[in-house]
Amino acid sequence: MGISVTLSRTADASTSAVGIPIASDGPLSSDLRLSRKDLSALGFEAKSGQTLVLPSTAGSKQVRILVGIGDVKSVTPSTLRSAAASLARAASGHASLSTALVSAGRGDKKANAQAVVEGLLLATHRYVNLKNDKSSKSKLSNVVLVATDSARATIEAGVARGHATAEAVCRARDFANTPPGHLTARMFADQAVDIAKASGLRVQVYNRDQLEAMGCGGMIGVNKGSVEPPRMVKLTYTPRNAKGKVVLVGKGVMYDSGGISLKPSDPSHAAMKMDMSGAAAVLCAMASLRDLKVRTSVVGYLMCTDNMPSGSALRMGDVITMRNGKTVEIHNTDAEGRLILADGLSLAVESKPDAIVDIATLTGACMAALGKKMAGVLGNNQSWVDQVKSSSDRTDELVWQLPLHKDYRKLLDSNVADMRNIGGPLAGTITAALFLNEFVADVPWAHLDIAGPMDTDGDDGWLNRGATAFGTRLLIDVVENFRKPRK
Ligand code: BES
Ligand code: MN
Ligand code: ZN
Repeated sequence: MGISVTLSRTADASTSAVGIPIASDGPLSSDLRLSRKDLSALGFEAKSGQTLVLPSTAGSKQVRILVGIGDVKSVTPSTLRSAAASLARAASGHASLSTALVSAGRGDKKANAQAVVEGLLLATHRYVNLKNDKSSKSKLSNVVLVATDSARATIEAGVARGHATAEAVCRARDFANTPPGHLTARMFADQAVDIAKASGLRVQVYNRDQLEAMGCGGMIGVNKGSVEPPRMVKLTYTPRNAKGKVVLVGKGVMYDSGGISLKPSDPSHAAMKMDMSGAAAVLCAMASLRDLKVRTSVVGYLMCTDNMPSGSALRMGDVITMRNGKTVEIHNTDAEGRLILADGLSLAVESKPDAIVDIATLTGACMAALGKKMAGVLGNNQSWVDQVKSSSDRTDELVWQLPLHKDYRKLLDSNVADMRNIGGPLAGTITAALFLNEFVADVPWAHLDIAGPMDTDGDDGWLNRGATAFGTRLLIDVVENFRKPRK
C-alpha cells in the first residue's frame, strides 16, 4: 500500500504538513492564533470535509491544513472517514502528514482510527497500472496519527483494520478498472487463486466442461457467444469455532456487450468492463477475513464470463435449464447477470448456509431509481436485509431497500418455460430480484444491485474517479457482524 501509518503520542514537527481538525462549534485552540471570524473571512466554516491550507507560522516549517469535521456532537466514524479523505487530497503534494484527527471523534476509538485510515488510503488510491506517467499518484507516503490519550493499543488495532479493509477496496478497484482485454475470466480466476492462497482461503476453479457437467446452464448460456471460456471460482473461509455460515455470490461479467441484444456504442459502455465489480468485491472482501479474525464461515462464488455476440451466442427465444432445474426463456441477452447469478445462488442453497448475499451490477433501472450514490437492496427476509442496512450505516456505503413485490412475478411468466429473463420496461430492479428469488429457496437472502455506485465520474471524498469497488467494505462488515437471521 502507498501510505504507511504510524502513531505518536506527541505532535510531530518533522512532517511537512499537519492536518488540524476543526469543529464548526466550540472554542478554537489558541495555538491556531486565528478566530472564528478570521476563518470565516477565509471562507472556512469547518463544514465536514472542508479544508483550508495555511502557510506555516514563524519558527515552523509545517504547512497547516485545517479540515472541518462539522458539529462536534454529531461526529461519527463516517465523518472522520470523509474528513481524512479531504485531508489526504489537500495534502497530496506533501510526502508526510501528521494529524490528531482520530481523537477528534468522541466515540469508539477503534472505529474512528479504522475510518481515518480508510479515508486516507481510499482517497489516495489511483489505478495507474497502464499509465507510463504515474505522476497523478499522490505523493503522500507517511502519515503520523497523533493520539495523546492512553488508548494506543485500541487505536493501533483500528489502524490495522483500516489497512485491511482499505487494501481490500483498492484491490477490488484495480480489478474493476482493468480493461477486459487485460482481465479475462481465466486471468481473473488465476489471480483469485493466488490471492486466495496468500490469504488462507480454500479455492476451487471450475472450467466450462465442469460447469456444463454441473448443469450450470446460466453460465454456459451466457458464455456461448464468447471465444473466452468461463470460470467459476469457489472460495471458502473456515475459521475455528465459526458462529454461522454465509454465502456471497458475485456477478463477474468481465465485459458486457449485451450479447446479440447488443448495447449501443455510446462511450458509457466502456464502463461495462466493470460488470465484474460484484465478483471483485466478494474476492477482495474474503481475502481480508483472516487478518480481521472474522468468526463466520464464508463461501464465495465468483461467476465469471463475458457476454458477447457471435454466431454461437444465445438467441431470443432460446430456453436454458439452470442448476436448480428451472427453465428460462431468453427475451433479452443483455439481461445476463441474473442468469449467471441464478447458478451461483442455486449452488449456495445446496450448501445449506444461514444466509446469502449476492452483489451485482445488475440493472440500469436501479441507477435510474437511486442514482450513483447508493445501491438497491432487496431480499426475502427483513431481519437479514436489516443486517445489511446496519452494515451500510457503519461503512457509509449507502443502500436503499426496494420491495420484492410478489405480485410482479407474473411479469416474468413465459409461454414455454418456467420464466422469462426479463419482466418488461417497468420496475426493472424488482423484476430482476424476483427472478433471482426463484433460485434462493427459503434461505434468508439479500441482493445488492450496485449498477449505480459501481463507478464515479469525479474524485469525491473517499471515492476516486473510476471504479469504486462499492460493497467491498459492506460485505466485510456483514460477515463480521453476522447473526443468524430470524426466519
Ligand atoms: N450490466 C448491466 C447493468 C448496468 C447498466 C450496470 C449500467 C451498470 C451500469 C446489465 O447486464 C444489463 O444490461 N441490464 C439490462 C437489463 C435489461 C435488459 C432488462 C439493463 O439494465 O438495461
Ligand atoms: Mn447486460
Ligand atoms: Zn451486465
